[in-house]
Amino acid sequence: MVKIRPATNDLDPIEQASRDEIAALQLQRLKATLQYVYDNVAHYRKTFEEKGVHPRDMKYLCDLTKFPFTTKKDLRDNYPFGMLAVPRSKVARVHASSGTTGKPTVVGYTKNDIDTWADLVARSIRAAGGRAGDMVHVAYGYGLFTGGLGAHYGAERAGCTVLPASGGQTEKQVQLILDFKPDIIMATPSYMQVIMEEFVRQGLDPAACSLKIGIFGAEPWNEAMRRDIELKAGLDAVDIYGLSEVMGPGVACECVESKDGPVIWEDHFYPEIIDPETGEVLPDGEEGELVFTSLTKEALPVIRWRTHDLSRLLPPTSRAFRRMGKIAGRSDDMLIIRGVNLFPTQIEEILNQHTMLSGQYQIFVSREGPLDQVEVRCEVRPPLVGEVDADRRHEIGRWVQHRIKTMVGISMSVTVLPPETMERTMGKARRVVDSRHL
Ligand code: DLL
Repeated sequence: MVKIRPATNDLDPIEQASRDEIAALQLQRLKATLQYVYDNVAHYRKTFEEKGVHPRDMKYLCDLTKFPFTTKKDLRDNYPFGMLAVPRSKVARVHASSGTTGKPTVVGYTKNDIDTWADLVARSIRAAGGRAGDMVHVAYGYGLFTGGLGAHYGAERAGCTVLPASGGQTEKQVQLILDFKPDIIMATPSYMQVIMEEFVRQGLDPAACSLKIGIFGAEPWNEAMRRDIELKAGLDAVDIYGLSEVMGPGVACECVESKDGPVIWEDHFYPEIIDPETGEVLPDGEEGELVFTSLTKEALPVIRWRTHDLSRLLPPTSRAFRRMGKIAGRSDDMLIIRGVNLFPTQIEEILNQHTMLSGQYQIFVSREGPLDQVEVRCEVRPPLVGEVDADRRHEIGRWVQHRIKTMVGISMSVTVLPPETMERTMGKARRVVDSRHL
């Protein structure tokens, strides 16, 4: 939109290859990956044998449908390191994301995996219009979350100057942008909006700042948000997609010249769209659940990983690879709160740890300004004698709030109600009321 740069001429050769060349590479890598996991991961050998398939059954790309899916439950059952295809001592780094329960999903990378990841994030930055010599302000969180370090290594690989700001301390983020004049910012789109508001609070116009490109992801966002950010911050806003189990940020990224959905780096990840109910593969263009098979990973290869993200596969435009449509939602109950993944069962597990709580609960999610707000409502059990007064309930609420902050990493308000005051449903309990997208 505003400060768009000319299309790049420094593409990796495979980004301009023919579909036949890409398919041939994918088939060769799929065969190798299937054999590799069969030889090195007990879980895959077992599930292949249960399904009566062998890596040598992989003759054409369509044969992949014969192989079993992999899910978060498989990672949980093999927690923490049981799905690794290399000895733990060969793992150069671990990251983790939310599991469906209190235990996180652990992922590992060899040195080569970190290298490939850096290459793909660098490719993503170039797709977004970034160039060697640009300064990249990384405002994704650093830590177990893949956002910060994933962006960091990629920006270094692209030959950029990295400003490792991490998330939070918004006043300082503004100061760094004003003083250091970065060209690119990488953050969740909602956090970018918070930064822009901080500019305005300080009487400054964010559109006048140095930023030319924003590479936003880790949570769903839409065209209205893109327009809002582009207009107010005077930059080109590009969508980057990824997930820890498949790698981290940079599984797919939009090209600045087309902004028509993230391009999937198909030389490293083989995408499928399935019907989330039946598991049947759907044709390109139809909406369903995205499934990825890694083609080059060493430490934690994934075969037909069910992302639970609902999307579509779209034909190539700016690159030779297919694109994915914007994430239309999820086929499970995972919420993304300020970029952090949250399963309602994580809250349930914490509530069950307090003997005075009944186990009934509801999670209310709303958006005030750019930030997601969460309120957890729960209730106490009827006491054997007397009553649980408001002070005691408040105290229990503080305990729950602290535990959620510590275990899940998200600040939420907690309301503890008197016994038997929460609405009971006849059917499936409605645990989440999300009014963000109304
Ligand atoms: O969010 C990796 C990442 C970091 C991607 C920074 C982009 C930028 P996880 O914490 O494992 O990994 O969460 C993965 O986040 O399955 C989607 O539901 C959601 N998600 C990630 N990127 C996008 C996006 C990182 N561009 C989960 N649009 C995924 C919509 C996204 N949802």
